[in-house]
Amino acid sequence: MTYERISLKEAAYVMEVLQSQFSTSRGANMLNRLERAFAEKFGVGYAISFVNGTATLHASLAAAGVGPGDEVIVPPLTMASTSFAVLHAGALPVFADIDPETWTIDPASIRERITERTKAIVPVAIYGLSPDMDPIMEIAEEHGLFVLEDDAQCFLGKYKGRLVGTLGHAASFSFQSSKHMTSGEGGMVITDDPDLADRIRRFNSLGYAAVGRSQAKISKDVIQDPNYARHVEIGWNYRMAEVCAAVALGQLERLDLLVSLRKKAASYFAQAVEGCTWLTPQRVPEGYEHAYWTYVLRLDRDDITWHDFRAKYLEFGGEPFYGAWRLTYLEPAFQGKRFADYQWQEFGPGLCPVAEATQPRLIQLPTNYFSEEEMERQAEALARTIDYFGR
Ligand SMILES: Cc1ncc(COP(=O)(O)O)c(C=O)c1O
Repeated sequence: MTYERISLKEAAYVMEVLQSQFSTSRGANMLNRLERAFAEKFGVGYAISFVNGTATLHASLAAAGVGPGDEVIVPPLTMASTSFAVLHAGALPVFADIDPETWTIDPASIRERITERTKAIVPVAIYGLSPDMDPIMEIAEEHGLFVLEDDAQCFLGKYKGRLVGTLGHAASFSFQSSKHMTSGEGGMVITDDPDLADRIRRFNSLGYAAVGRSQAKISKDVIQDPNYARHVEIGWNYRMAEVCAAVALGQLERLDLLVSLRKKAASYFAQAVEGCTWLTPQRVPEGYEHAYWTYVLRLDRDDITWHDFRAKYLEFGGEPFYGAWRLTYLEPAFQGKRFADYQWQEFGPGLCPVAEATQPRLIQLPTNYFSEEEMERQAEALARTIDYFGR
């Protein structure tokens, strides 16, 4: 059986938007429909849609009051947006190290990085695996910190029986084209905090007075009134387009299937890697459910390079795969930089030794396959590569 990444369902919703001529009075209300459905899916009070999953992070941090003079603790093994958003909010990213087996941010390292300026923590569910959120929330409570989950890569993952995205004070998702569900580009923030939701919405919508937690649009009677005091805050235009909302709504209604396919692909890889002593999968602790945005292995042999492994894998019919992004603070945009006069970390090698030892060894196998035959072919390529180098 072959499934579709984008189905007729998404196409039908897009047609609805086009037929509405983008006119609210003719029924252009996909944003509201998507947001209500998303909030319901996650069992939270509010969902606010965005142009992408970087704007979501920026808006959430700013809405939580993060700004100049503040520090925000982030992991370095993530996509750069996690830290860029902190800088966009005017604050300083402070990097905490990762756990050597799960590769998610290490709560003990977070604790060491807390200062009087710390205002927030952004734990990332890297590759689809939740960080250890209980101790992170304990630290946050002790120090009065805001916790924003960056779940761009984790849809319907679980942590001790709870849905990832409902563990912190707010959570950010990305609908960029490689993610579990996509609208080409797009993002969503969820939260149960009504005041925070209001502030996030205003930041997303040019600070309009008439938008709010569950209100993405403004009626004509209000917006056309010359006496309408429009802008109660300075905001950005980070709104999602209706056409994207239509695609995202179709994807959301198919999300269980889309996630289950990723997990199925991961289970094929897991079988192929069994008994191999030198490829170590990301550890999934008891009580966690991994969403497998990608299936990641650490190459633990020094006589095989990452490039050797990739070349052989491709030769055996494997799809091209990514290595892990460079650690954010080792990117040229960060290295040796000073972003604030109160910056106390030097952005260079040595800052997070576990992450530095791990990142160059990671193999990120794609899981976005839509037939079991393709999954089997990829797992077979992995098994043959392992056998070639000697299990
Ligand atoms: C962990 C993480 N955070 C944030 C983002 C940013 O999302 P977007 O590309 O939608 O801006 C991404 C992915 O692209 C990501 O993987």
